[in-house]
Amino acid sequence: MPEVPDVADPELADAGRRRVDFAERAMPVLALLRDRFSRERPLAGVRIAACAHVTPETAALARTLLAGGAELHLAASNPLSTQDDVAAALLADGVGVHAVHGVDRAGHAQHLRAALSARPELVLDDGCDLVGVLHASPGLLEGVRAGGEQTSTGVLRLRQMAADGALRLPVAAVNDTPMQLLVANRHGTGQSTLDAVMRATGTLVAGSTVVVAGYGWCGSGIAARARGLGAQVVVTEVQPRRALEAVLDGHRVLPMAEAAPLGDVFVVSTGDRDVLTADHFAVMKDGAVLANAGHFDVEVDVEALATGSVSVDRRVRPHVDAYEQPDGRRLLLVAEGRLVNLAAADGHPAAVMDISFAVQALTVEWLARTDLAPGVHEVPAAIDDEVARTKLAALGVRLDELTPAQVRYLSSWQV
Ligand code: ADE
Repeated sequence: MPEVPDVADPELADAGRRRVDFAERAMPVLALLRDRFSRERPLAGVRIAACAHVTPETAALARTLLAGGAELHLAASNPLSTQDDVAAALLADGVGVHAVHGVDRAGHAQHLRAALSARPELVLDDGCDLVGVLHASPGLLEGVRAGGEQTSTGVLRLRQMAADGALRLPVAAVNDTPMQLLVANRHGTGQSTLDAVMRATGTLVAGSTVVVAGYGWCGSGIAARARGLGAQVVVTEVQPRRALEAVLDGHRVLPMAEAAPLGDVFVVSTGDRDVLTADHFAVMKDGAVLANAGHFDVEVDVEALATGSVSVDRRVRPHVDAYEQPDGRRLLLVAEGRLVNLAAADGHPAAVMDISFAVQALTVEWLARTDLAPGVHEVPAAIDDEVARTKLAALGVRLDELTPAQVRYLSSWQV
């Protein structure tokens, strides 16, 4: 028996619905998909457990899956990103919701288990949490046919599991589609991370030095937005190809030890732990802002920051804690070192999630009718193309078409 849903306050449903309706106006691709899903019912009777940030955009995805006939059970991906009114609205719409803003780690783990207690056929993950629980309690794996993963960090983890021969489920790497990397990781994370830092701290980005750790799709988007706002950007990297890309994009590249005394704002986006540590805190400027744009809260060593500080002034502004150093400097940690764009702002804009979740919904439809072997699978390119084409049509953007002679030229090796 699935466990009873858990939301903060079911009475918030109407407020949540209004915000979901508003977000949906920027999500035309998902709306078209929902129309088709309600006619064709491709997910009739399919039981799905999802772990996702409980936002209006996720609610739009949930409504689409429900329109396709699915039964949906939802756990929060991160308690700080859960919006309680949206959770209430989803519950009222018939989703089994297990999500309460700010719940502690034990409560969060309980919510994941509760969503899985519905015995899903498909799991949709955002950070590999559900897959982790499924593999830690193999009884739960029975009957689960496949999964989809939405984040870079989750896909990284899945690939490690697959390399170790530990992954017992086929999982589609939704994160890795070209549309997702470009639109969600670069533009979504780029904009929403700067938005979160500015909202939380009120800092003037123009003229400041922004240190971006990690120049993947997210880091490069963050760096581009910071530069667009007038910052001098310093990038730190461990991979030569990415470091070269940052140099050629016009950024200064330094080891973190050298960047630490220069930065006014630090944004870490590497997917790895211990990127900002005690050695760096010791040489940072007074008032330096520390923010994590990576999925897990391991990139800033918050424990070392706390241990090395003489006091912590909690919530000097909403979402900001000031850590006073022995020499009087104050370092400003945003959102407790957790995923900053969702904890201190609204995450990716709805127009971005329209694309991510359209890819996700089409991937679910594909998974529901396809048998795959355990392992990490690419999402078919046709899904990505369909989403791109539909989004452009919704934006009123028209394309050229190849002439028959051009098609022949491209498909032949003889000139
Ligand atoms: N991930 C990043 N931004 C998001 C949003 N707005 N909703 C759900 N998941 C997200």
